[in-house]
Amino acid sequence: MTKARRLGVPTPVLYVVDPVLHTLTFEHVDGLFVKDALLRFGSNGVNEECLNDIATQIGNAIGKLHDGGLVHGDLTTSNMMIKNSNNQLVLIDFGLSFTSTIPKDKAVDLYVLERALISMQSSCGEVMEKILAAYRKASKQWCSTRNKLAQVRQRGRKRTMVG
Ligand SMILES: Nc1ncnc2c1ncn2[C@@H]1O[C@H](COP(=O)(O)OP(=O)(O)OP(=O)(O)O)[C@@H](O)[C@H]1O
Ligand SMILES: [Mg+2]
Repeated sequence: MTKARRLGVPTPVLYVVDPVLHTLTFEHVDGLFVKDALLRFGSNGVNEECLNDIATQIGNAIGKLHDGGLVHGDLTTSNMMIKNSNNQLVLIDFGLSFTSTIPKDKAVDLYVLERALISMQSSCGEVMEKILAAYRKASKQWCSTRNKLAQVRQRGRKRTMVG
C-alpha cells in the first residue's frame, strides 16, 4: 500500500504495524464502495458524468500501479472506495498484491476486474471500456498488456466452455 501511495495511487494511510499482535492499523476511509456506487446507478439511472469520473480514476490508478511494477491481485469493486469528502478513488485490500513487471500478471489483474464488472453491464454499460481507455493513457506499457489481455480472455472463455 505504501508503494502504491508512492506511485501516486491513493490508499489508506498505514498508521501502525504491530509485529507482536500481527495487526495493521489503517486510516479509516469514509466513503462508498465502487460496487455500491455502480449498483446505485442501476436503481437510479446512470449519472454519466459521475460514472465517467469513477471509470477514469480506476483506469488511471491501475495504469500507475502497473507501470510502477505493482499488481493488486484482487481488483474487484469491493476493494475500491470513493471518498465522501472529495470523490477521490481509494484502493484497499492489498493482501494479494505483488511486485511484477510481467505483462501477463497485469493482464490477469485487469481480467479479474473485467469479470467483476460483467454483472453491471446492463445498468452501467461498457464501464470496462471506459476504464481501459483511461488505463491506456496512464500506462506506457499498454500495448504489451493489451496483447496479453486478449490471450487471457480467450483462455477464460475456453475454460468457461469446458467447465
Ligand atoms: N481503510 C478502510 N476504511 C474503511 N473501510 C475499510 C478499510 N479497509 C477495509 N475496510 C472495510 O473492511 C472490509 C474488508 O477489508 P479488505 O477488503 O481489506 O479485506 P477482505 O476482502 O475482507 O479480506 P481478505 O482479502 O484479506 O480476505 C472492506 O470491504 C471494507 O468494508
Ligand atoms: Mg476486500
